[in-house]
Amino acid sequence: MSDNDSTLKDEGVSILERAARRLDHALGHQSSSSPSASQEAIRHQVYDNTLDLEQPVSLAEDADDSPQRLSRRGEIDLVSLRENGYIVPDSPATVTAEEFRLLKRQLLLNAFARGEGAIRNGNLILVCSTQPNEGKTFCAINLALSIASERDLTVLLVDADFAKPEILSTLGLEGGKGLIDVIADPSLNLSDCLIRTNIENFSVLPAGRQHHLTTELLASERMGMMIEEIAQRYRDRVIIFDSPPVLASSAASVLALHVGQTLFVVEAESTREQQLREGLAMISACKNTHLLLNKTKYSSGGRKFGSYYGYGA
Ligand SMILES: Nc1ncnc2c1ncn2[C@@H]1O[C@H](COP(=O)(O)OP(=O)(O)OP(=O)(O)O)[C@@H](O)[C@H]1O
Ligand SMILES: [Mg+2]
Repeated sequence: MSDNDSTLKDEGVSILERAARRLDHALGHQSSSSPSASQEAIRHQVYDNTLDLEQPVSLAEDADDSPQRLSRRGEIDLVSLRENGYIVPDSPATVTAEEFRLLKRQLLLNAFARGEGAIRNGNLILVCSTQPNEGKTFCAINLALSIASERDLTVLLVDADFAKPEILSTLGLEGGKGLIDVIADPSLNLSDCLIRTNIENFSVLPAGRQHHLTTELLASERMGMMIEEIAQRYRDRVIIFDSPPVLASSAASVLALHVGQTLFVVEAESTREQQLREGLAMISACKNTHLLLNKTKYSSGGRKFGSYYGYGA
């Protein structure tokens, strides 16, 4: 993704593609390597560390999330979003909008593939990266907004960065209960936490309140059950998880056990190869990983270009 919204130009894209290929070359075939060892390690870490949270997540009785049922409605600040370089519905075509249009195409093909190409929980997409500030939240929001612009698709954006939740503030929505609260409190319904927005087919699930047991809750069996239930319940919906840095929190590793696709953000000229290797190993439980080269800059005649690179899909 370019970090500037300027005119798209073909030769810029090809240069970025070359950069991406070099990145691919440097990484070898990590995404297709057997994930079993690290996956098992993570599974043990997750399921050997369960809290006393044995009550099942009873989403079945909570299946009505019709507008009447949902308790909250929020107004996304579209002007602020546009001013900060985000995609907003019905705005003129921009480089960012075009880049995310290309990116979502492959993700959506995977999300709703049928038959032999079907991916388990393919409609669940984790956005992650190794370090802070590489653009996870920026990309998660833009991807969600881009998908929401498809009139026949519905998107749920989940803030899974419990330590530094930024989805609500970026969108201009008010805080409230969220994912971590539902995991911690079996009496709480998921529908009570979802926020419908002024973008018709776009809802948000906040991270929820800071909880002193967040790490344990994240690693709990209930967390896994919750994600699986969300996947089953919203089969026709694209669910995007924004997450904390892979190397700083176990959240992305835990989520990678359940999502069908991962979008791994790599910051151009910043993310180090070793960090990237370690980060990819942490989320290797998910076998469909796409690399996204973010904050690219290429200048020719004063213009800047951006692109993305799919990896191992
Ligand atoms: N492609 C881009 N174009 C313009 N600005 C960008 C781009 N990617 C990220 N940014 C900006 O960079 C800053 C950091 O991005 P962001 O908050 O998305 O990072 P993050 O990976 O979510 O960080 P953290 O791990 O701390 O949550 C933000 O101000 C964001 O708007
Ligand atoms: Mg973030």
